[in-house]
Amino acid sequence: MAKNGDPVLRLTGLNKSFGAVHVLHDVNFSLQLGQVMALVGDNGAGKSTLIKCIAGIHPIDSGQIEFDGRPVTIDGPRAASDLGIEVVYQDLALADNLDIAQNMFLGRERRKGIVLDEQSMEEAARETLARLSVRTVKSVRQQVASLSGGQRQTVAIAKAALWESKVVILDEPTAALGVAQTRQVLDLVRRLADTGHAVVLISHNMNDVFEVADRITALYLGQVAADVSTDEVSHGQVVELITAGRSGDLGLAPQVAAESI
Ligand SMILES: Nc1ncnc2c1ncn2[C@@H]1O[C@H](COP(=O)(O)OP(=O)(O)O)[C@@H](O)[C@H]1O
Ligand SMILES: [Mg+2]
Repeated sequence: MAKNGDPVLRLTGLNKSFGAVHVLHDVNFSLQLGQVMALVGDNGAGKSTLIKCIAGIHPIDSGQIEFDGRPVTIDGPRAASDLGIEVVYQDLALADNLDIAQNMFLGRERRKGIVLDEQSMEEAARETLARLSVRTVKSVRQQVASLSGGQRQTVAIAKAALWESKVVILDEPTAALGVAQTRQVLDLVRRLADTGHAVVLISHNMNDVFEVADRITALYLGQVAADVSTDEVSHGQVVELITAGRSGDLGLAPQVAAESI
């Protein structure tokens, strides 16, 4: 079992192409329990492709994946969730006509004999929200259709945390939110890490990244330009890593950054 501080997931030398298009080049990426890793990069840099490789949606062409220190193959979404890897995609995939507890157990319902064990699911949903100090939803029996954008995001994140997951990947969780709801979701992201998860935060928003991330991995045209501690870099440097692949001493060698253009 990994403890806080050990890498729970480590990708080494990962390559991924779609046909003739080489999207990810020798990517190294590692995650630690208790930490938020921001994954940043311009549109088309390969962020979604990278998380889909981790989530078992895309097979990788080459490279190694270690989970809890052991080599693994992630050959489908089921294999990813069995390891404890959960992804919250931007569309959230919540069912409006169901309540919060039903959504958190959607597709993985608990049963008592042949009937659904509503009581146990309701309790587990409530406990998970309490563990994450969520105070923005009143009842787990509330219909998801009645929730605000921030509350929906909260439910989707809590759902990902419910399954004894170790790695929770969030794709732009604050992109559609106003200031107050962004604040609540960022607090929740921090608490996810503080309760022992390894969190990946994909974000374009430097304020969000600097507020909540412990480390930053910058992708530039499918290559890792930098994997740095948040307190070692400035906003401006991260923007340069995203747009040019390098910033001062950080990032890809000048010829590599130039050749990729
Ligand atoms: N299923 C696919 N088939 C072909 N090309 C793809 C596919 N998915 C992504 N790509 C290409 O891979 C590159 C990286 O895309 P993506 O991972 O979506 O980047 P990001 O999420 O950082 O914006 C882009 O050039 C994109 O066109
Ligand atoms: Mg994307």
